[in-house]
Amino acid sequence: MIKLGVNIDHVATLRQARREFDPDPIKAAQICIDAGADSIVAHLREDRRHINDEDVFRLKKSIKTRFNLEMSIQSDIVKIACQIKPNQSTLVPEKREEITTEGGLDIIGQFSKIKQSVETLQASGIVVSLFIDPVKKQIQKAKDTGAQVIEIHTGSYANAKTKQSLAAELNKIKDMTKYALDLGFIVNAGHGLKYNNTKAVAKISGMNELNIGHSIISRAVFVGLPQAVKEMIEVIKGNA
Ligand code: PXP
Repeated sequence: MIKLGVNIDHVATLRQARREFDPDPIKAAQICIDAGADSIVAHLREDRRHINDEDVFRLKKSIKTRFNLEMSIQSDIVKIACQIKPNQSTLVPEKREEITTEGGLDIIGQFSKIKQSVETLQASGIVVSLFIDPVKKQIQKAKDTGAQVIEIHTGSYANAKTKQSLAAELNKIKDMTKYALDLGFIVNAGHGLKYNNTKAVAKISGMNELNIGHSIISRAVFVGLPQAVKEMIEVIKGNA
């Protein structure tokens, strides 16, 4: 069964609207786990717009399932990750002005910096995942970094506006999942996955885990967080 990693960034976004204590993302993480999530994802952005340093230390201390720290390759962030030692680090590109992560890593263009970050994190016992667009030459180059996992960026699939482009984007994800599996990667996927577009991605053979945030936290406003997580698990299982 494909795993679900719940990204809790937007619980912290809501907290930061008042810069107080509620809602607590660590409490939210525990609720997600109790509802069946397999891992918790949090992105420590360079501008700390939602998750902050204290959150990641508290997550590491309290989360008993896998903690997947999403992060850039900036050396100060890599240093913090090596102190925290999450189970996994997912490396993403980061631009200050973006609303959310906009594209996959340019492994070819930033190869030596990415490889160095992978090696530093792995030396601290952290499994490293690289967030990559479904593009063959980027995935091929990712193999040379020594990373064990890739997360395929599903943003273009999520944003597809026509039936044809949706099918084309889904096929790219399918083909690149197979390609990455053949190279020996563990393959995850995420970004922009919602209750109405996740089922097809969850059906892809060999897919390990889907990382989903905004749609689950949004749904939680109406039905509560446990129910929102459980509903997404049903979608992943193909039951909804
Ligand atoms: N995976 C990665 C690498 C991401 O950057 C994000 C967004 O933070 C997600 C998954 C989750 O995306 P969404 O919030 O659109 O579900």
